[in-house]
Amino acid sequence: MDHMPKLPLRLGVLLSGTGRTLENLFERIEAGQIPAQIVVVIGSRADAPGLARARRRNVPAEVVRPRDYTDVPSFSAAITRSLEAHAADLAVLAGFLHFYSVPKSFENRVINIHPALLPAFGGKGFYGHHVHEAVLDAGVKISGCTVHFADAEYDRGPIIVQRTVPVLEGDTPDTLAVRVFEQEKEALPEAIRLIAEGRLRVEGHRVHVLPMPSGI
Ligand code: GAR
Repeated sequence: MDHMPKLPLRLGVLLSGTGRTLENLFERIEAGQIPAQIVVVIGSRADAPGLARARRRNVPAEVVRPRDYTDVPSFSAAITRSLEAHAADLAVLAGFLHFYSVPKSFENRVINIHPALLPAFGGKGFYGHHVHEAVLDAGVKISGCTVHFADAEYDRGPIIVQRTVPVLEGDTPDTLAVRVFEQEKEALPEAIRLIAEGRLRVEGHRVHVLPMPSGI
């Protein structure tokens, strides 16, 4: 989003699972830490607990299931229709385990959070615990999380924020996931805040973060 957006930023959140990421966003917004409001939550399965979290807060919760569509373009078009119907400024992939083909109208208006330091440990099949298992198998000493703009490739796209954690002796995928998730809870709100403040400029694969304008 290469301009100063109108605030509060209208967020559409896409998820497939438990929705801890969504819950954190609700909490951060309520605490006044992100100038945004969640206008729709889209779940890729009807029983995704994240949808119930949205309904509890009276936020529209919609289901768009891949199996109801013949291909990625028609599935993606259904998502875009829902985002547009709710006039979402920004779509947040918050534990969304499918490929959303971002249309031109949403270019640089879709962000994804991934529980590793991209471009390593990303791509199809790398989600949730699979990611942390791969990190441990590779023997790397540092992991973390990445928030990036989603583009035409899975887990690619210009990187907005990364935060790191150490991989510790004796870590299991579970213990590492807990440490990484603590950082995800900071990284995603930070990225959304930067977008809301109109402080990101995307140039090729690089995202430049502009200083806070004086007087704010
Ligand atoms: C989060 O850790 C997120 O980074 C990850 O799924 C989890 C969702 O948890 N996303 C991916 O792995 C995407 N490739 P939640 O449903 O409890 O918010």
